[in-house]
Parts: sequence; structure tokens; C-alpha cells
Amino acid sequence: MAEITGKILLTGATGFVGGRLLHALTGHGMKVRCLVRSPEKLRGKLFSEEEIEIATGDLLQEDTLDSALEGIEVAYYLVHSMGGRTIGENKIFAERDRVAARNFIRTADKAGVSRVIYLGGLGETGDQLSKHLASRQEVGEILSSGRGQATELRAPNIMGAGGAPFEMLRYLVERLPVMVCPRWIETRCQPIDIRDMVNYLLGCMREPATAGLSFDVGGPDIVTYREMMEIYAKVRGLKRLIITVPVLTPRLSTYWVNMVTPVPSGVVNPLVEGLKNEVICRENRIRELIPMKLTTLEESICIALQEVEKGPGKLISRQTCLLK
Ligand SMILES: NC(=O)c1ccc[n+]([C@@H]2O[C@H](COP(=O)([O-])OP(=O)(O)OC[C@H]3O[C@@H](n4cnc5c(N)ncnc54)[C@H](OP(=O)(O)O)[C@@H]3O)[C@@H](O)[C@H]2O)c1
Repeated sequence: MAEITGKILLTGATGFVGGRLLHALTGHGMKVRCLVRSPEKLRGKLFSEEEIEIATGDLLQEDTLDSALEGIEVAYYLVHSMGGRTIGENKIFAERDRVAARNFIRTADKAGVSRVIYLGGLGETGDQLSKHLASRQEVGEILSSGRGQATELRAPNIMGAGGAPFEMLRYLVERLPVMVCPRWIETRCQPIDIRDMVNYLLGCMREPATAGLSFDVGGPDIVTYREMMEIYAKVRGLKRLIITVPVLTPRLSTYWVNMVTPVPSGVVNPLVEGLKNEVICRENRIRELIPMKLTTLEESICIALQEVEKGPGKLISRQTCLLK
């Protein structure tokens, strides 16, 4: 393992994964420069000037990025453009993500950034890939085309309070005693706990053998979305009846999920469209390079539920999981 002496840039610091990574990096005593569009979102978060430096910039505006990337050794790329409030508003996310990644890598090359660590999406490859997963893979290719060494972690649904996958699961199972579900609930996935994900992101920075490579990452359990809902219901002691019907199109599924959960349809639509694709690791090389005890899905749901109870951002240790 190598110690990083140079400066670290974090994009997406106001997001679900980036916010957790920021706490982990500063918790390890590292000073982090955060590239954010809205600095006020970070200013209320009790970081000191010794811990973080805020660089205001927008990845869609290349001329705002120079000072953020200047002097940076390692840059984390934890950004996506989904999230409009309507399906129509969100149609152009792939184009936005392409522009953002190109702007970023051109500026990173000019600044001489030596490592880029990108969190992308896991999934099958080929023509059947959803627009969301295809876009995540395209961003990975753009970031790998730079002069620095890029590491791509291809992740499945990341489980943690405040993240879209867990919040969708939570609202669906909590609110619907009888669920009439589309066929995609029989698709298999390999969810990973947010803490394990953050440990992999940290580990990539410290492990030079990960530089320039792409890795599949996933948790210890391979489950269908139906089994995920059943595990959630079991953890909460809820009785749920799940019935599948063949007629629910991705668009109808989006309206259905959107009616029940607070996650914006602009995020739900691309995610639901992607549920037809299996999201399972095809290789596990990362487990040898960055070994850790991975959190089971049941434990992960327990911890996320306790975080919901304690309030956002109040992290607890996994030993305090009492709901089982
Ligand atoms: N969550 C998951 O389950 C999951 C699974 C697999 C992979 N990933 C990947 O993990 C990464 C982070 O996902 P997340 O769930 O943390 O997303 P998130 O919570 O929606 O956060 C997205 C972040 O991107 C920032 N951003 C968006 N457009 C930007 C722009 N033009 N310039 C600068 N910043 C911009 C947002 O800033 P604002 O606060 O200004 O909007 C926000 O901080 C993404 O690459 C995603 O594909 C996530």
C-alpha cells in the first residue's frame, strides 16, 4: 500500500457516495478539495478549513474546472447527471454525462493529474444494456482515455440510507402490503453495502496495483429483487405478498415506483429501465487486492434502517445492528 502525499480532489461530495467518502477521507486525516456546484451544501456540514477546501465549479462548464484540478494527484469522479423531476427533463442525461467526463479529463490532463478513480455501473455488456448502464460505461471509457491512470469500479446497487436503491426498496416494502410487481423483480443483482464501497474507493487510492484497471465490485449475496424485498420485510417483521404480472412496462413501473417513493422519476426511470439487466460480478480480482469482510445484505439493510432512525449522516458501527 502507498501513502498519498499529494492533493486529492473529490467530485460528487454533496452526493450519497461522495458525502460518505468525504467523511472517510477526512476521518483518515486527509485534506480534500471538493469540486461542487453549490458550496452552501457543504458549508453547513461542520468541516473545518484544515479538512476541506471548496472549489466551486460545474463539470458542464469546462472553464470553471482549471483551479479545481490544479496541483491534484488523485481525483475521484463520483458524478452522474440523472435526476430531473420528470422523465422528459431527464432524457438527455447521457449527453450531459459525456460532456462532463470530457471536460473533466481534458482539464485533468492539462493539470497533470496522475490518477482518476471512477465509480461506474456494473452490468452485462452488449446491445441489451439500459441507457443508464451504457452511459456509465461510456463515461468510464472517456475517463480512461486521459493521460493519468484511471481505475474504474463497476458497482451494483449500493445499499445505505439516503441512496436511491435503499430508499426505493424501503418505501415500496413499507408502504405496500400487497405488491403487484413487474417481471424484472426476478432479475438477479449483487448489492454492496455503502461502507464496503467506500472502503474499496479508499483502497484503490492506496493500492497502486489498481491503477489503470477496471474492476467489478459487489457484495457477498446474489439475490433477485424479489428476494431483496423479502429480506427487507423479514428484517422489519412485515408480512408482504408479492405478485408478478407480465404487463408492467418500464414506463409504467416508473410511474408505479414514483407514486410510492420520494425518489424523483428522473432517477427512477433510468434505474428501473436497467433492472432488466443482471448486475452480477463477472470477476472478483478486487477482493484479492483490497481484502475485507463484506457486509451481508441483511446486515446492510439493518444498518441502513438504524441510520434512518438516527437521522441522515449519523453513522453507526455495524456491531450496533440489533434488528435481526
Ligand atoms: N447510488 C448507487 O447505488 C450507485 C450504484 C452504482 C454506481 N453509482 C455511481 O456512483 C456515483 C455517485 O452516485 P450517487 O448515488 O452518490 O449520486 P448522487 O447522490 O445523485 O450525487 C451525484 C453528485 O454529482 C454531482 N453533480 C452532478 N452533476 C454535476 C456537475 N455538472 N458538476 C459537478 N457536480 C455534479 C451532484 O452535485 P449537486 O449536489 O450539485 O447536484 C452530486 O454531488 C455515480 O457515478 C453513480 O453512477 C452509484
